[in-house]
Formats: sequence, structure tokens, C-alpha cells
Amino acid sequence: MKKVREKLAEIGFDAFLVSDEKNIYYLSGFPWGLKLLIPVEGENILFVNSVNYEAAKSLAKNVLIELVGIGEKIEKKISDVVLRGRFKSIGLDKMDVSEYWRIKNSLEEVRFEVLGDVIWSLRKVKDESELVLIKRAAELTSRGMERALEVIKPGIKEWVVAAEAEYEMRKLGSSGVAFDTIVCSGPETAYPHGGLGEREIKDGDFVVIDIGAKYRGYCADMTRTVIVGEGARMQKHIYEIVVGAQRIALNHIRAGIKAKEIDEAARKFIVENGYGEYFIHNLGHGVGLDIHEPPMLGPLSEDLLLAGNVVTVEPGIYIPGLGGARIEDTILVEKGGAIKLTGINGE
Ligand code: CO
Repeated sequence: MKKVREKLAEIGFDAFLVSDEKNIYYLSGFPWGLKLLIPVEGENILFVNSVNYEAAKSLAKNVLIELVGIGEKIEKKISDVVLRGRFKSIGLDKMDVSEYWRIKNSLEEVRFEVLGDVIWSLRKVKDESELVLIKRAAELTSRGMERALEVIKPGIKEWVVAAEAEYEMRKLGSSGVAFDTIVCSGPETAYPHGGLGEREIKDGDFVVIDIGAKYRGYCADMTRTVIVGEGARMQKHIYEIVVGAQRIALNHIRAGIKAKEIDEAARKFIVENGYGEYFIHNLGHGVGLDIHEPPMLGPLSEDLLLAGNVVTVEPGIYIPGLGGARIEDTILVEKGGAIKLTGINGE
């Protein structure tokens, strides 16, 4: 919150109104806040409703807690605080449009502006205490993946594989899944987000497993693709190209390089091998409290990779009618290169 205040002073805003739950958690340590107001001068105010009032008193740090009681309107509470503080310009992370107008109607003189980067520039660079939690989430994810790979065999249903992976992660301390588990087999592997149904895995299938554990709010993300049994030559070829593309990307990553250059390097390799039109998504994304967050690793990314960024590297090739393969790891960007946080015996 101190850094947010400094940034606001620098760009000439009086306050910042935070709506995103993850941002509120990141800044105040409280996971169930309604809104957080950070003025350049004065006390930070956390708005909570009755069910979370007691919890906020014991968990939230460096804030005054403002109760929004039953029958009270948060818009009214916010505009009271804004008028009292005489704030003329307020930055926002994001806000629901209808809510915005309810607040704006009583604060006609106040200028609101979305300043997305104020908090993202902080969240993108993980500190030591965050890295401990992300590494734990990555470890749990790897163990879940290990379990999934153990149970995959002809005849098992996709959702049973998913249940085994999730159960393993839960038993080891995962507080939930970072996103809906994907276990996808056969022709549907051609859809990057396909799968998790009752399909029975068959000999010769591609199976894509994409899972993520969560530890104290922090996510990890990992994908493996296996060929059940022998498989066809083309499947093995696709798999090898995806492995190669990931290796190239990992070798390029270091602090100070443009994120889009990493995507470019991996994409070039896939294009040269004739599968360019089948790599239909960005190479990767940031991971933290959100499963998809900046920095993005894609052709349109304007991010510069910084030490402390945590990103995925996940090249994939998807051929309609035939199937697809993707390999994904969560990695930490350091000055000297990429440190893989997910993996099974280093793989
Ligand atoms: Co991902």
C-alpha cells in the first residue's frame, strides 16, 4: 500500500479504489474485502460486510475497517469517505460498470480513471514470501501430475484420472484447484481447453493433462501430454516438436529480455517444422494469485521480463480431427535464466 501511495503521488492522483478481490488480498492480507481505498494521505480503508467483519479485524493489516452493515449501501459509504477526504482524482484497478455509475452519480466532480498497471507492476514481481508459496503450489501440482501419469491406462475414464490428481494435491495440502482440471484424450486433444468427460482412454490416444494446485491463494500451472501405448509416428513427431519448442523458450528466458521474443523463438521452431498454423495460442502467461495474469508471453506482449516474474511456458500443436499435444511448466525468471518450478524428476 505504501508503494501504491508513492505511485499515486507521482502521477498526481489523490486515492486509489481497489475492487479486485485478489488485489485487496495482495495489499491488505484480507481475502474477502469488498473494496479497499488507499489515499495518498490518511488511513487506508477496507470495506467489508457483516459476515466478514470479525475476520477482517483479525486478518487485515494496516487498514481501518469500515463495516457495510445489512441494509447499508457500499456506494453511499464510499462517497461519504471520498467527500470527507476531498479526493478529486481516484485511480481504479477495475470496476463493474453499473457499480461505477452508482458511485459516480453522487460524485460528479470526481475524476475516476482505470490505472491497471499501478498494482500489476507490483504483483508481476514476486517477493521472497510469495515465491515460497508459489513453489509449494508448484510442488503440489507436480505430485498431482505424477499421480495422473501413474493411473493413465487404457480403459480408465478421463474424470477418474482428474479425480486422482486432485485428490493427491488435496491430501498434500492444496487449498483447491487453480482452475478446472483438464484431462483430455483422443481427437478432442485438438481443443486446447477440451475434455474432462466420461471418455475412456484408449490405446494409441494422446492424453493431455493440465492441472494446477493452489497454496494460500497462489497458483501453479502444469501440462503433460502422453501417448498411450505405441502411438503413431506423427504423434511422436508432434510431441518432439513441442518438447523442442519448450526447450528453446526456456533457454532464451532471462531477466531483461522482451517477453514477445520468447514467444517468437518457440513459434519460429514450430513454424520451421511445419506446424505453425496449429500453434493457436500465446506461449505463456504470468501466474500468481491469478492463474492468468501479466506478463504475457505472446506476439503482442509489451512486457519486459523481470527477475521475480513467474510465468508459464506452454507450447502446443493442435490438429483438428487428429489431436494435439501441449507441455507446460511454471517457471521463475531470474537474472541468469529460467528456473523450472514444476516437474517430475527434473522433467
Ligand atoms: Co497455463
